[in-house]
Amino acid sequence: MKKVYVGMSADLIHPGHLNILKEAAKLGEVTVGLLTDKAIASYKRVPFMTFEQRLLVIEQIKGVSKVIPQTTLDYVPNLELLKPDYVVHGDDWREGVQQKTRQKVIDSLAQWGGELIEVPYTQGISSTQLHKAMKEIGTTPQIRLKSLKRLLAAKPIVRFLDIHNALSGLIIENTRVDTPEGPKEFDGMWGSSLTDSTAKGKPDIEAVDVSSRMGTLNEVLEVTTKPIIYDADTGGKTEHFVFTVKTLERLGVSAVIIEDKTGLKKNSLFGTDVAQTQDSIEAFSQKIIAGKNAQATNDFMIIARIESLILGKGIDDAMARAEAFLEAGADGIMIHSREKSPDEIFEFCRRYNQLANRKTLVAVPSSYNSVYESELIENGVNVVIYANQLLRSAYPAMCNTAESILREGRSKEVDGKMMPLKQILELIPGGK
Ligand code: SPV
Ligand code: MG
Repeated sequence: MKKVYVGMSADLIHPGHLNILKEAAKLGEVTVGLLTDKAIASYKRVPFMTFEQRLLVIEQIKGVSKVIPQTTLDYVPNLELLKPDYVVHGDDWREGVQQKTRQKVIDSLAQWGGELIEVPYTQGISSTQLHKAMKEIGTTPQIRLKSLKRLLAAKPIVRFLDIHNALSGLIIENTRVDTPEGPKEFDGMWGSSLTDSTAKGKPDIEAVDVSSRMGTLNEVLEVTTKPIIYDADTGGKTEHFVFTVKTLERLGVSAVIIEDKTGLKKNSLFGTDVAQTQDSIEAFSQKIIAGKNAQATNDFMIIARIESLILGKGIDDAMARAEAFLEAGADGIMIHSREKSPDEIFEFCRRYNQLANRKTLVAVPSSYNSVYESELIENGVNVVIYANQLLRSAYPAMCNTAESILREGRSKEVDGKMMPLKQILELIPGGK
């Protein structure tokens, strides 16, 4: 019996997959290399179903003799292990991000006289189409809530961008670019207190109350499926924070970040230009413990934000707090800085990474914006939050339009900078 190898994600199984397996089974005994979440996330979105769920499905499909994990997009490690006579794949990978992977398969098989068999792409159905259809159906709070932990487990870094209304949520949901390393998108949305307050014409001092903040979240939740990390400022009084946790969890928000400050909150980026008081380690730890006790699922995350660098207290203070807050049960740490250079953040990372109970690390490169995601990854950062860039780009564009209309006495001059009327009418489908 010849040995046949098929690498598959087997997430949304469709006739195209079954056709490949049918053709593979004609050639011999089929081993499926089931790509792990990590392997899939290295070149496209995280699958809908977990590895275990996908395994249950693929094992039962006719013609499949054996299933083994394929832990990288690269087939070579599994091929060297199995030395199959054939690898069967759809012919669609000749183009695009998988070209290199394909060439490596051909070269590897050549070592023992194996052959790559390419099955013509099944027209009329694809994972991309199914993915689009599933997005249109939407999601559930439970699935959305869990999705952050799955992303964290599968990707070297997850990327968040600010929301302040439903439209900003839609931009994060849908923006996608193709790069030589594959398609790129934002993984989720940051419920920023700064941009939510600013969009409501209020200062970022917890003046926009939790009910109003939830109003913004609700409008975003209605039109998106990606995970949300919510900026709860200081979390308020501990007795109030437990209700915020329950509300967020019920809505399907994945994580809350609370900062270790007390009294009237001021935006961190003012630094020491304004009076800001850091909470004591003990009191803030109690808030974390109360929040963890209040949550109903295992998937919701409470992330402690450390303001020591913002307030000029230094890295030793930040580290002492990180250790205490993790000890109190925090699911991660956000370290903030308002320096132009990422040096102090990287120094914190170096020490943080040595902690035995190190958990998710979040960075917000607003001031040290020259840093690349690749550098954050090298330093062990797990979540990057672009905290305000959407609102900061929208506001000057709108001011410019308002000024131009006033100056010119008509709107024609600014036409080239605006979305055409037809496009705005059709931007949100279903209006016709
Ligand atoms: C926010 O986006 O509201 C934040 C980050 O909390 S910062 O504005 O830098 O404090
Ligand atoms: Mg904030």
